[in-house]
Amino acid sequence: MSFRNYKDKIDEGDTVILYLSNNLYAIDVRPEIKSKKGDLVENVFQTPFGALKVRNLIGTEYGSKVELSKGWGHVLQPTPELWSLTLPHRTQIIYTPDISMILLQLDLVPGSVVIEAGTGSGSLTHALIRRVRPHGHVFTFDFHEHRANVARKEFEEHGLSDFVTAQHRDVLEEGFGENLKGKADAVFLDLPSPWIGVPHVLDALKAKGGRFCSFSPCIEQVQRTCLALERQGFQELTTMEVLQSELKVTRRTVPVRDLSFLKHKSSESPVEEKPSSETSYVVGAWPTSTPGHTGYLTVATLPPVFARKKTQETEQNNQCADIDPSGNGSAMAVEETG
Ligand SMILES: C[S@@+](CC[C@H](N)C(=O)[O-])C[C@H]1O[C@@H](n2cnc3c(N)ncnc32)[C@H](O)[C@@H]1O
Repeated sequence: MSFRNYKDKIDEGDTVILYLSNNLYAIDVRPEIKSKKGDLVENVFQTPFGALKVRNLIGTEYGSKVELSKGWGHVLQPTPELWSLTLPHRTQIIYTPDISMILLQLDLVPGSVVIEAGTGSGSLTHALIRRVRPHGHVFTFDFHEHRANVARKEFEEHGLSDFVTAQHRDVLEEGFGENLKGKADAVFLDLPSPWIGVPHVLDALKAKGGRFCSFSPCIEQVQRTCLALERQGFQELTTMEVLQSELKVTRRTVPVRDLSFLKHKSSESPVEEKPSSETSYVVGAWPTSTPGHTGYLTVATLPPVFARKKTQETEQNNQCADIDPSGNGSAMAVEETG
């Protein structure tokens, strides 16, 4: 329940984050667990700094230092950011740099209704929940039944069930359901073929309009999604890539040439050049390797219903422009499907 509200002390049933000099682990605080044989045994968590008796965490203050058999660590309260770094991976997940941009681009505020597909490992879902609670709701879908069930159980264990509904459904085949028609402020898709889902997104967004975002690793997926969005009257289409790089504060020693001899070069008594000296500076150094590509975020706005008619007129005009023999229409070399 430690995801629900900040609190001082660890209770049985909490999830805690164990921080050990640059390593993070999520631990379920249960004094006993089932062994492979099915017997209840003492829950002992093994780390590179030795064993931790999980029972001893109960009653300990969050943020405090805890003894391990060969060292010590700190126990932290989980946040969506820490959870993304420690959660059990059932799929590829979305990480904090992309998550922060997704939350901003979807215009989410407490009270928003947001749809997500697929749920995957629930990395993004935890951040969505924190943003829209206490009055908003996340509807998250996955067509992999086991993943949908595990995610639902995890949200329950984390005390978040009031803010999220996890369903097993193929959203590309079946859409988001009758009860969500015209109910969502925003929709996020992390699916292999998001463009097929765009007509369902149109159905789900409110009459006053809303925001859309999809995450796709390949530019061909982005192109198809953009074409589908345009066709359905979405506006303000933008695709971006979020690459976070961290500057390391470090000391660098550089040779400095003494140029004072230049002043006397043409004089009658020339001065010898002095050897270079070395000076040490504190600098912000760029990483030697750039962060790898994760995916492209494509975002778009669905205008309110009264403005959508105009969009359809524009689309008709665009279609006329496309068959204009001057050939000035948009020229994306993508086969249009869906
Ligand atoms: C990359 S994972 C999502 C990861 C998630 N965003 C996270 O941060 O943990 C993609 C998920 O989409 C699900 N999926 C793929 N196609 C789907 C569909 N048509 N309907 C619903 N879920 C789908 C997969 O089962 C998979 O769990």
